[in-house]
Amino acid sequence: MKMNASSWHGLFIVLEGIDGCGKTTIGKMLFSFFQQHHLPVLLTAEPSQGKIGKIIRENLQDSSVHPAIDALLFAADRIDHGTNEILPALKKGNIVISDRYIDSSLIYQTTQGKNSQISMDWVKELNKFCLIPDRIYLLDIDANLSLARRKKQNSTLNEQMEKFEKLAFQQEIRNAFLKLAREDLTKNHRIVDASKQPEEILREILKDLKDICISKGLSWKENLSKAKKFLIKLDH
Ligand code: TYD
Repeated sequence: MKMNASSWHGLFIVLEGIDGCGKTTIGKMLFSFFQQHHLPVLLTAEPSQGKIGKIIRENLQDSSVHPAIDALLFAADRIDHGTNEILPALKKGNIVISDRYIDSSLIYQTTQGKNSQISMDWVKELNKFCLIPDRIYLLDIDANLSLARRKKQNSTLNEQMEKFEKLAFQQEIRNAFLKLAREDLTKNHRIVDASKQPEEILREILKDLKDICISKGLSWKENLSKAKKFLIKLDH
């Protein structure tokens, strides 16, 4: 059985986009916003902090890993993360914000594995146990701009660039992310211009979330009054 919004009281929000699009900053801002309004919130990310997530992070530095191994590991990590972390939090009525989810696999692994017969259908099949988010925000940005951001961050953080962070690859996945969002039959995607200032992006996302929050508010008994307060603030 597919797990979707009717299986939980909380709200499952996913942030997606190419490397350096600003998901992590926006995730943190959303998290603080909900916390300030006393709404129960969990900020999480994929690859996860679990055992499989650790192996994936090592592989991100290694271009010789077969793309099918990446696809299998990301799918396994997602089952672990979904079952043990995301779903329990959603069932308790939390707002869960995940920095990346299934779209990243559908895009990165099929683009990376184009010559290794990694098809969209196969990646979908591997991910058939995943949860269906209430909303997916694609933070869309020009690949040159995001790469420049990453390079600047890396020189300050002294981090190594990972195997997916090449310009041509990033341009390709940007287009693939846009196509996926535009063709989404569930209409759960929203495309956000990520070249804007973070505060503006946050506002746009919160405005969009308003309607879902209101409909969810009916089942958020204990949080309804708090939720209403922050929704009213958004109008000003
Ligand atoms: P990223 O969000 O950039 O994590 P961090 O900020 O910790 O580096 O994710 C790391 C990389 O993993 C990124 O290049 C995208 C890639 N990735 C996939 O290829 N498939 C997936 O399913 C996920 C979740 C991530």
